[in-house]
Amino acid sequence: MNLKSKDLLGLKDISAEEIDYILETAKTMKYIITSNNKRTPHLQGKSIITLFYENSTRTRLSFELASKYMSASAANISASDSSVLKGETLIDTGRTIDRMGTDVIIIRHPMSGAPQLLAKHVKASVINAGDGMHEHPTQALLDMFTIKEKKGGIKGLKIAIIGDVYHSRVARSNIWGMQKLGAEVCVAGPATLLPPGIEKTGARVFSTVQEALIDADVVMGLRIQLERQKKGLFPTVREYSRFFGLDDKRLLFAKENALVIHPGPVNRGVELSSTVIDSDRSAIDEQVTNGVAVRMALLYLLTRRSGNENLN
Ligand code: CP
Repeated sequence: MNLKSKDLLGLKDISAEEIDYILETAKTMKYIITSNNKRTPHLQGKSIITLFYENSTRTRLSFELASKYMSASAANISASDSSVLKGETLIDTGRTIDRMGTDVIIIRHPMSGAPQLLAKHVKASVINAGDGMHEHPTQALLDMFTIKEKKGGIKGLKIAIIGDVYHSRVARSNIWGMQKLGAEVCVAGPATLLPPGIEKTGARVFSTVQEALIDADVVMGLRIQLERQKKGLFPTVREYSRFFGLDDKRLLFAKENALVIHPGPVNRGVELSSTVIDSDRSAIDEQVTNGVAVRMALLYLLTRRSGNENLN
């Protein structure tokens, strides 16, 4: 099987079969990264560029390590130390990178739709590493990989996503992806942080965390972007934590064996209590490892589409 598109721009537009295929491939990649020899030839001769217009620890580093583990040539460009600061447009920057023989460009950008625009103007495969308030598909893929690994599957699970859904590209990608794999997705958060019309995605919307958590198999906390408080979208961090924070007491509403996940970075004691973060039910550390495996799988499958099939 080959992925249908040269790019991965979001999970809204890819099939359940393609998602399953990426997650199955990631299983093999996880064996590699947990072994003593992390070097494989899957991307030998390939060139991978990370083009980040926003800060990142997990996504950027995991893409860079994934490229290096599979023997690609990898380099990073940050907006802060590139000709973007001299006024170069995204399309011109993309074309410049493309003309250097790049096979994959991984882009994070504050504007929704920037990866789609780039993909139309370059031959390289484009991977969306987070665009504005739109999608962050590789985060959702690693979240789903983690859930499958811990729960044995996704179909039939009740998954509660709690917090700032409005600004969250992670929530949007997960809502599309998890429902495609057969989960029931419930969301809850302050009314000011729930996007109007979110129920049209198929997600069930609740105004209290408790209602969303009832019998949940998986609970995902979303990062509260602290700058939102300055804009008056919630009164105080303390109040947010009191009404929407996930602690042991609130998690009693979920199933006893409910899994807790979070895309990171976490504000300890705000969206999740420290006890929950460090508990056995938390898979946050595992998510980080799985992020490398999923990104290895995706890089491999996208470059294989363009004629690298004999390296399997
Ligand atoms: N989850 C996530 O995207 O983390 P980074 O911002 O550190 O990449």
